[in-house]
Amino acid sequence: MTTPAHRESCSVIVVGAGLAGLAAASAALRSNASAVVLLERELKPGGNSIKASSGINGAPTRFQTQAHTDDAFFTDTVKSAGKRMRSSATERNQRIGLIELLTNNSLAAINFLADDIGVDLSVVTLLGGHSVARTHRGAGNTPPGADIVLKLLRSLQDDSRFELRTGCEVIKLLQSAQSVESDGPPTIAGVEILSDNKLTSLAGPVIFATGGFAGDTDNLLAKYRPDLAGLPSTNEPRPGMHGLLVDVGAHLVDMESVQIHPTGFVDPHSQFSTLKFLAAEVLRGEGGILLYNGRRFVNEVDTREHSQVLGL
Ligand SMILES: Cc1cc2nc3c(=O)[nH]c(=O)nc-3n(C[C@H](O)[C@H](O)[C@H](O)COP(=O)(O)OP(=O)(O)OC[C@H]3O[C@@H](n4cnc5c(N)ncnc54)[C@H](O)[C@@H]3O)c2cc1C
Ligand SMILES: *[C@@H]1O[C@H](CO)[C@@H](O)[C@H](O)[C@H]1NC(C)=O
Ligand SMILES: *[C@@H]1O[C@H](CO)[C@@H](O)[C@H](O)[C@H]1NC(C)=O
Repeated sequence: MTTPAHRESCSVIVVGAGLAGLAAASAALRSNASAVVLLERELKPGGNSIKASSGINGAPTRFQTQAHTDDAFFTDTVKSAGKRMRSSATERNQRIGLIELLTNNSLAAINFLADDIGVDLSVVTLLGGHSVARTHRGAGNTPPGADIVLKLLRSLQDDSRFELRTGCEVIKLLQSAQSVESDGPPTIAGVEILSDNKLTSLAGPVIFATGGFAGDTDNLLAKYRPDLAGLPSTNEPRPGMHGLLVDVGAHLVDMESVQIHPTGFVDPHSQFSTLKFLAAEVLRGEGGILLYNGRRFVNEVDTREHSQVLGL
């Protein structure tokens, strides 16, 4: 490829306009960033996040009515992590740190969405692996993923320091010249973008939020989980971007930990389509049961590790 024709710089670059990227852009603005550019390869923002229909987990929140201990979210998550916690002490401690980060900050995340962004999260359900109900959604008809994405986006667009650029695919992370010469960890100095068949570059600190790879069925999924290659998926059929991180020295972990969801809707007009519409977990959380030859055969809200063992 040729060198980018056009170069610009900005104070924060966010790659990927799903929930992670939108939340990161919002956090950057709240921390007084002077300009935030959000780059999205699709023509519309939202990624897989906009499809989320069961809800968002958080505890201990004011919406939960069932009695529970403060660390229930933490202990349930450790239990759900299953065999991944039975690794070396170092790995176990790293995972405990990540689970604490997730669960300790979940109340603040729910409060931020409910109070600052105006998302209705007042209905709480018990879903897979939970000892107490903690999955939040709204009381109306808008699914939680769409409500969160659209309201977060609106709040960002109210800020003149924010700019969303769609149809912009980041194809490379750029390293600073000193970082390329030294042997130390790389310093990322910006991104290279492909848009309208033109190559440009943008300089600045980068937050990388390009989502997962479950929709990359013939490539990354086939590589890390050959048993699942070509499996119909409710995820956007798009390439996983993990290679861009590996190119600048990142190590990947837990790539084989892919959630298999037991229920999806089948369109009778295209039964064998690999892109499916999810029959969300909340259907089971609200009482739906699974039958095999007319008999119930499983606890429908068991951990994800268990549904994997059953081959669901
Ligand atoms: C049908 C469905 C229902 C779900 N329901 C729930 C639920 O109820 N609760 C729950 O907690 N989770 C749910 N999940 C999982 C949840 O949606 C994901 O974990 C979450 O959306 C991930 O957010 P993200 O921001 O990391 O990725 P995404 O939302 O996928 O966003 C990534 C974005 O990055 C963009 N991108 C990718 N590569 C590039 C590039 N090179 N340059 C620029 N942009 C790029 C993508 O186009 C995309 O817009 C569901 C998932 C699916 C598929
Ligand atoms: C952002 O600016 C406001 C107003 O100047 C200030 O009160 C606040 O502390 C700043 N926040 C951060 C994270 O620097
Ligand atoms: C999470 O909260 C617990 C209890 O307050 C605390 O001991 C722990 O250090 C916190 N962990 C992180 C990563 O914030």
